[in-house]
Amino acid sequence: MNKETNEYDYILNNFDLKNKRILDVGCGNYINTLKFLAKRPKLLVGIDNKQPNAKLKTKKCLFIRSNCEKIPYKKNKFDIVTCIRVFPYVNIDKTIKEIARVTKNNGIILISCHGIGYYFSEIFKAHKLKSILCILNGLVYHIFNLKFKKVDSFQFKYKIVKILNKYDIETKKETIFKKYGIFKVLFMLYCKVNK
Ligand SMILES: C[S@@+](CC[C@H](N)C(=O)[O-])C[C@H]1O[C@@H](n2cnc3c(N)ncnc32)[C@H](O)[C@@H]1O
Repeated sequence: MNKETNEYDYILNNFDLKNKRILDVGCGNYINTLKFLAKRPKLLVGIDNKQPNAKLKTKKCLFIRSNCEKIPYKKNKFDIVTCIRVFPYVNIDKTIKEIARVTKNNGIILISCHGIGYYFSEIFKAHKLKSILCILNGLVYHIFNLKFKKVDSFQFKYKIVKILNKYDIETKKETIFKKYGIFKVLFMLYCKVNK
């Protein structure tokens, strides 16, 4: 199991970001996204549907309020696209389709997912009913391909890989960040685009 529990630190330590055009999908308040600047990317963009637009003094770094199911960039713009802890809240198929579109051929995609263990561990903390609903929503998603957006849901690797393959994205490696018993809490997929 990997000791780095923050996916951003893991990416920083394991991938060459220098002179790359990077997009962080669902960047939140972008505190984590900004870590990538240390590696001097050519361009760093974060998008999130709940955060305001922001531009840093340097032209090569900006944050845009936008829905990741419709990314406001032309195709083949980015060398690296990251999507960290966002899948519980979005239409995964539409988001992966958009990520595939804006990533260059041979570009890298890094996706962090919530395993079923994430919600199992939550049951034993404060949010019992909510966690049970999230697990049920995840099961409905995996069995019937229906996802109720108002409730979060876990992801199984096989399902995500199937969608990735549909959009010509090949999975190279899985990194597990945390486990709860035998269940994955957080795992990351390192993928390459073959258009
Ligand atoms: C758990 S936070 C993760 C933030 C960041 N990736 C991190 O790990 O620090 C999930 C983020 O996804 C964003 N999000 C949810 N649905 C979205 C959508 N349809 N388009 C863009 N961002 C979305 C939320 O606003 C939230 O900031």
